[in-house]
Amino acid sequence: MRDENIIPHDHAIKLDDRVKLGGHLPKLIWFTGLSGSGKSTLAGAFEVELYKLGYRTYILDGDNVRSGLNQDLTFSEKDRTENIRRIAEVSKLFVDAGIVVLTAFISPFAEDRKQARDLVGSKNFAEIFVDCPLEVCEARDVKGLYKKARAGEIPNFTGISSPFEEPIDPDVHVKTHEESLEESLSKLKSIILPKLAPSFPPGRV
Ligand code: ADX
Repeated sequence: MRDENIIPHDHAIKLDDRVKLGGHLPKLIWFTGLSGSGKSTLAGAFEVELYKLGYRTYILDGDNVRSGLNQDLTFSEKDRTENIRRIAEVSKLFVDAGIVVLTAFISPFAEDRKQARDLVGSKNFAEIFVDCPLEVCEARDVKGLYKKARAGEIPNFTGISSPFEEPIDPDVHVKTHEESLEESLSKLKSIILPKLAPSFPPGRV
């Protein structure tokens, strides 16, 4: 709910200043894919690469979001939309802080992902489709949840009893059932790293 009496304070330090200090642009790198497709693995490995290169990063995933900020949310369609909305709002703050934020959520609905893109602005957003066929995710069944979902013990399970809307035009499309982790990482690096370069020479604060 907006309040007409909430007047924003004009802080002296702006995003531009934080970018100058950090030496790179911020970005919301949005990984989307089925449970078990490799979103968290890939986001984690990419974060290591970025960290080694000196980028300031942060990962938002189920472990730190669904267990805290979003612990009141279920996997109903409405709650998933709210899950993504809150994650996008938090990501927007990270982007304003000058951080490269990597999110690893199924985010099955195209409209929710579009809302996230619109919220942070297209130039600050990159959608990564972590593509892996349901059969492969199900065979991996890292958390044992597909087995439970098939047994009817988990309602609204993505891929089984709830839809996953594939990205139509993702910025990066990785296929974790066909590529090695290194191959997927090198796709990410070649597309994302150039987008993080600021328009001024490094070190000029
Ligand atoms: S999202 O759809 O709202 O984006 P999110 O990424 O936060 O999902 O959480 C997905 C993770 O929650 C899965 O990897 C799985 O471990 C667990 N989970 C529990 N119930 C479900 C369900 N009904 N559908 C999908 N994942 C579930």
